[in-house]
This record gives sequence, structure tokens and C-alpha cells, in this order.
Amino acid sequence: MKPESLGSNLYPPLSATAIQTQALEVIYPNGYKALHSTTLKIAQGSFVVLLGTSGAGKSTLLRSLNGLVEPSSGHVSVEGLGDLKDPAILKRHRRQTGMVFQQHHLIGRLNVLDNVLLGRLGYHAGWRMFTPWTRAEKEQALAVIERVGLLDRALTRADQLSGGQQQRVGMARALIQQPKILLADEPVASLDPNTSVRLLQSMHDICKSDGLTAVVSLHQVDLARQFADRIIGLKGGAMVFDGAPELLTPERAEALYQHVSTSPSPTDATSRVKPSFQELSLSGV
Ligand SMILES: Nc1ncnc2c1ncn2[C@@H]1O[C@H](COP(=O)(O)OP(=O)(O)OP(=O)(O)O)[C@@H](O)[C@H]1O
Ligand SMILES: [Mg+2]
Repeated sequence: MKPESLGSNLYPPLSATAIQTQALEVIYPNGYKALHSTTLKIAQGSFVVLLGTSGAGKSTLLRSLNGLVEPSSGHVSVEGLGDLKDPAILKRHRRQTGMVFQQHHLIGRLNVLDNVLLGRLGYHAGWRMFTPWTRAEKEQALAVIERVGLLDRALTRADQLSGGQQQRVGMARALIQQPKILLADEPVASLDPNTSVRLLQSMHDICKSDGLTAVVSLHQVDLARQFADRIIGLKGGAMVFDGAPELLTPERAEALYQHVSTSPSPTDATSRVKPSFQELSLSGV
């Protein structure tokens, strides 16, 4: 019998699915099973937060959603495109997906405007590197820079910005792609609490106003509760919570962050999930 799903009445919601995984498993080349069979549907326009301790598999899942990590088995498919294992589909998916990372990967000696313009190059720079930006491209870049609240810094070198400002540049660089999906891996990990709230608020507002689907990994339960439509909790590579923020009670949150046994079989992370927490397991895990 399948385990009870906390979110079964809520997810998938009535809205269409933007991206889904089917029995997705990731085993790294060294044999470590970082993600156990995971089946989930992410609704279009939803703001989904991945929570879990360090090593729980958040980045692995997030990067699988953009083909940066390949499934060892199972599938990732995108609405309107298909299975990411097809290289042509993956390419199209990446064009419509913005990524924001903990390390902003900015070029310090370039100003904000140029860093954002580089976002237009996408994953493959190619010949576009050698031609000047058009006026329309610059105007588009300035428009996204304004949206993230940095217009007055557009000509400032990236290495002269604060961490929060740099992360805003990272967000603008993702937005200039005019993505349908935004994937953010610990975008506020290196920011102070107030700056984190402001950055997530901007990210959330922009995603909602543009109808973007967002999957964001975080370490802070309070921020997840504040911004998520849906929280997915990972532990030892398994999805152990899936539901609306109000369902993540203090007890469940604590269980999510409880220490996992230190004598794991590297290929069996599920065995490290405490039995009392199994009741929170989702079907398909
Ligand atoms: N390339 C790799 N090769 C082998 N093991 C890896 C690789 N990348 C990640 N892992 C392992 O997979 C597990 C999940 O890693 P992942 O980076 O997804 O965790 P995370 O939840 O994002 O952690 P953090 O909060 O620290 O970023 C960890 O045990 C990690 O050591
Ligand atoms: Mg990570």
C-alpha cells in the first residue's frame, strides 16, 4: 500500500502541471544514491520551496529539473515540450528556465548592465559574444534591473555591490531570459535575515506577477512558510514532506531537520529516515 500523502488533496492542484518527475532517481558516479525514486508534479505558477538539511538532496532534485544532473532512472518532463532526455527538448527547456545560484557567478569587473546582458547568451555563448548589444537589448536589461530595484547601480561594477545586491543581479540575469520557470538554489544562503526576506519577497512578487513557476531551495523554515505555496521536505534523498506551509507543523519541521544516522549504506538513504517520520512519506517515494 502506498504511504499516505499529506498533500494529496492539494497537489497536484487544479492548475496545469509545469514540470513533473516520474520515479526520478539520481545515483552519482561514485555510487551514492542522492535521490530516491521521486514522483511529483509542479503546478504552473506555483512557488515551491525545497527544504532539508545539508546533503538532503535539494540541489540534486533542483538540478535534475534543468538537466544539470541526469536521472539514473525515471524521467523529468516539461509541459508542452516533453522528456528532458531528448537533447533538443532539454535545450528548449533551458531557454525558458532561469537559474539563480547561491554563488552569483557574476563577472566582478563588469558592471551590472553587462552582467545582466550576459544572461541573454543563455547556456551557449557562441558568436553572440562578439557583436555589440543592441539598444533594444540594453533597454530590456535596464527594465529587468529596474524590476529588481537596482536601476541606480546599473553602471556599478558587480564586485562593488553588497551580497544582496549581487543576488539581485543574479535574479535580473535570470529574468532577462524571459523564463517560464525559475529555479533558485539557496538564493539567500549567504545573506542576512532582513536582506533574505527582501530578496525573496521580490522574487516571489515577480514570479507571481509574471506567472512564473518557481522551485527554490532554502534552509530557513520560517522563510519557506512565509513564501511557499507548497513545501517539499527532503531527507536522506527521499521526499518526506509535501504539502501546504500550514501543514508543516513545528514537530514535522523538527523531524525534517533531525540528525540522520551516521552509518548509512550509501545506496540506501531511505533507511536513514526515522520510522516515526515515515508516516509523512509521499506516495511514489
Ligand atoms: N557529484 C556528486 N558526486 C557524488 N555525490 C554527490 C555529488 N553531488 C552531491 N553528492 C552527494 O549527494 C547528496 C545530496 O547532495 P545535494 O547537493 O543535493 O544536497 P543539498 O540538500 O543540496 O545540500 P546543501 O544544503 O548542503 O546544499 C550529498 O550527500 C552529497 O554529498
Ligand atoms: Mg544544495
